[in-house]
Amino acid sequence: MSGAPSLIDISGVSQVYAGRDGAPTWALRDITLQIGNSEFVCLIGPSGCGKTTLLHLIAGFLQATRGSVAFQQRPILAPGPERGVVFQEYALFAWMTARQNVEFGLRAKPLSRDERRRQALAALDRVGLLAAADKYPHEMSGGMRQRVAVARALVVEPKVLLMDEPFAAVDAMTRQALQDDLLRLWKETGVSVIFVTHNIDEAVYLAQRVVIMASHPGTIVADRRIDAPYPRDRGSAAFGELYGAISGELSNGTRKAA
Ligand SMILES: Nc1ncnc2c1ncn2[C@@H]1O[C@H](COP(=O)(O)OP(=O)(O)OP(=O)(O)O)[C@@H](O)[C@H]1O
Ligand SMILES: [Mg+2]
Repeated sequence: MSGAPSLIDISGVSQVYAGRDGAPTWALRDITLQIGNSEFVCLIGPSGCGKTTLLHLIAGFLQATRGSVAFQQRPILAPGPERGVVFQEYALFAWMTARQNVEFGLRAKPLSRDERRRQALAALDRVGLLAAADKYPHEMSGGMRQRVAVARALVVEPKVLLMDEPFAAVDAMTRQALQDDLLRLWKETGVSVIFVTHNIDEAVYLAQRVVIMASHPGTIVADRRIDAPYPRDRGSAAFGELYGAISGELSNGTRKAA
């Protein structure tokens, strides 16, 4: 990262959960990772390797058992508007319209009602959903709901977007459209993105950097840069090679863990 200060510094982080039988689970062990400004990073790894735990530490929902997690050189102690979150579940409030859900993202800001509404509608417009502003979640498709969730996270202009398998529940075509939307928003806003996925194709399509994890305990086994220009061609030889390389690193990690 050419000596520029990083946006997020994770240093020597371990996370231990107390199991119900009292035996500790090392969800993460000795993780060190820096994320730069405007960087797009995918975290990929088998179920249980600690991806969600790592996002929760950055979001400030959890405090690390050991080590430090910092945002712009300041320790992360709680959630904050500079860190937007989009998770797969619990995305939207069922009793609020799309506009009200996005306005909820602005609740901590001292804005007039009109200004709140204006910003929410502008955010919906960015994700192509201005016409759906008055719809409730049950009136929208899964893809539309995830777009609203992205609009709600972006409306406060965060410095980083933390995304935990946000497109896992939608069909393949919608997923590709959401990926293209996200790349466009990333370029337009300059936000950093930390994106968790199980899907190698998704990581190779989206990320400038793919961080590959293994489980028991959760560790980083590889950190790979992808310099291919956007939009990426899924049918190209380079895409296939990257896919194969990451797939190999994932199964190496799984073998070592076993
Ligand atoms: N609150 C908790 N209490 C106890 N153990 C937990 C808790 N949360 C997670 N764990 C354990 O920590 C490990 C990492 O969990 P985490 O949810 O971070 O994995 P993940 O990589 O996100 O998995 P997945 O891909 O299935 O979402 C797992 O072994 C899990 O069982
Ligand atoms: Mg998870």
